[in-house]
Amino acid sequence: MRTKSLLLAACLSLTLAPAAHAQTVTGSGVVPSAAANSAERAIGFAASAPANGALVVVMTDATLPPLGGIALGASERGAIAAAVAAASFDGKAGSTLSLRGIGAWSRILLVGAGTTPAPLALAEAGGKAAQELKSEAHPVTVAGAYGDAGAADVAYGFALGQYRFDRYKTVDKKAPPTGAVTLVGANPVAAEAAYKNRWKPLADGVRLSRDLANEPANVIYPESFVARVREALAGTPGVSIEVLDEAAMRKLGMGTIVGVGQGSPRGSRLMLVRYRGAGAPDAPIAFVGKGITFDSGGISLKPGAGMWDMKGDMSGAASVMGAVVSLAKSRAPVHVVGVAALAENMPDGNAQRPGDITRTLSGKTIEMLNSDAEGRLVLADANEYVAQAYKPRAIVNIATLTGAIVGALDDQYAGLFARDEKLAAALLAAGTASGEELWRMPLHKNYAEKIKSDIADIRNIAPSQGPGASIGAHVIGYFVDEATPWAHLDIAGVNDASKASPLVPKGMTGFGVRLLDQLARDGQ
Ligand code: BES
Ligand code: ZN
Ligand code: MN
Repeated sequence: MRTKSLLLAACLSLTLAPAAHAQTVTGSGVVPSAAANSAERAIGFAASAPANGALVVVMTDATLPPLGGIALGASERGAIAAAVAAASFDGKAGSTLSLRGIGAWSRILLVGAGTTPAPLALAEAGGKAAQELKSEAHPVTVAGAYGDAGAADVAYGFALGQYRFDRYKTVDKKAPPTGAVTLVGANPVAAEAAYKNRWKPLADGVRLSRDLANEPANVIYPESFVARVREALAGTPGVSIEVLDEAAMRKLGMGTIVGVGQGSPRGSRLMLVRYRGAGAPDAPIAFVGKGITFDSGGISLKPGAGMWDMKGDMSGAASVMGAVVSLAKSRAPVHVVGVAALAENMPDGNAQRPGDITRTLSGKTIEMLNSDAEGRLVLADANEYVAQAYKPRAIVNIATLTGAIVGALDDQYAGLFARDEKLAAALLAAGTASGEELWRMPLHKNYAEKIKSDIADIRNIAPSQGPGASIGAHVIGYFVDEATPWAHLDIAGVNDASKASPLVPKGMTGFGVRLLDQLARDGQ
C-alpha cells in the first residue's frame, strides 16, 4: 500500500515535471531509506545454541566435524552419517545435502567447503546456506570446523548470499526469513570482532551498491543517489562530502558531464566522498565511477529490448560508494576519495546531438559522434576535477562502459585497462583475494589513432567497429595526466547476474565493492 502510493507519487512528479532542462525533478520524497529493504536474518555468534531450528554444518569431507556447543545425540549422528553415505556427499566446495526429520531440527543442511578451505570457500559455504534457507521459517544455527576467523568468513558469505531486493513486491512476496542466524564456535567474542571490524562493513557496502543499482531509474537519479549515499554515511568519522550540482559544473566548465545530462530534467551531479583514516598518507587514491542513472542512449537511442537494464548503468558509481562505506565504517587506515559522475542520458529537444563538440574541464575538446558513448564523457570531467581538487596518487575508474567487454569476457571477469604496471598488478591481486576477478585488456597506442578528430581534439567513438572496450578506455585515458597511475575497470559484463551464485544472488551484483575495498587496504 505504502509502496504503491510512493510509486504513484514518483510517476506524478514525473508527469508534472517542467520541461525546462535546468529544473530539477525531486521525486517528491521517494527516497526510501535503506532500512526499508526487506528483512534479512540478524547475524550473531555464540559458544552454544539450542538443538532446534535449522542447523547448517560446514563440511570439509564426508565426516561430520566436532560440533562443540551443539547437542547432537548418537542417533542423530547415525542418521546424518547414513544419509551422507547414501547420497555420496563428500563435502566438496559448492555441494549441499538437505536432511529433514532428524531430532528436533526443522532441517539439517550440510554444506561443503572442500578440504582445507580458504576464506573465500568458507564465505561461499555461508552464502550457499543463506540461499538454501531463504524461506526457512526458523532460526538458523551454523557449526563446523572453521575456527574463529573462519566463523567470520562464513558469516560474511551468509550476509552477501542472503541479499534480496523485493521492496516493491506487494503480492506473491516470499515470506521473509524468520529468526536470526547464529554461528557457533569456541571463541564467539573473537569471531564477532573479526566480523564486525571487517566483514560486516564490507557486506553493508555491497548491499548499498546492489540496492542503488537495483532501484529503478524513477527512484534513483542523480539527486536521490546523493541522498542515499549521504544517509548511508551519516555520522561516520573521517568522512567529508562534496557535491557539485549542474549549475556549479557548468560554471566550472565541465562541458561533457553537463552535456550528457542536458536531455534530462534531472540535474547532473558530481559527488565526491573523501575518507581519511588514522595514519593514512596525504594523497588519496581516487575511485571514480560512472553514474548514469539511466542510459537510454540519448539521441543515439538504444533499441527497446533490454533497455531497462540501463537502470544499472550507475553500477560503477554505486560500487565506489559501497567501497567507501566499507572502508569508513571499518575505520581502515587508508585515504580514499570516491567519486560518482551522475547524469541521466535521455533524448529530448534539449539533448546534445551527434556531432556536437564540448569542452571538458581540462580545456580539451571532444567531438561527440554517438550520444550512447556517454560514460567516457562523464568520466573525462570527473577525472579532471578530482585530479585538480584532490591531487590523488592514483586514479581507478569503474564503469559499465561497453557492450564489447561483455562479448570478450562475459560475466566471468571485469576488463582491466591500465597504463601503470604496479597498479595493474595490485588490482589483479585484489581481484583474486576478493573473488571479484579481472582480466587484463590491451591499451595499444595504435588503437588511439582511431579516436583522433578532424575538428576537435578527439572523438568519443571510432569511425568503424574496432576494439570497442579498448577504444572506450583510451577516450577516458586521454583525459588523465600520464604521470598519474591510472586504471579503468569495464564492468558491463559483471554488474548484473542473470543467475545466482553463492555470494551473489540474481540481479545487480555490487561488483567492485569488494575489489576496491581490498585494493585500498593493500595500499596499492
Ligand atoms: N552503458 C552502455 C554499455 C553497456 C552495454 C552496459 C551493455 C551494460 C550492458 C554504454 O553507455 C554504451 O552504450 N556503450 C556503447 C558504446 C558505443 C556507442 C561506442 C556500446 O557498447 O554499444
Ligand atoms: Zn552507458
Ligand atoms: Mn550508452
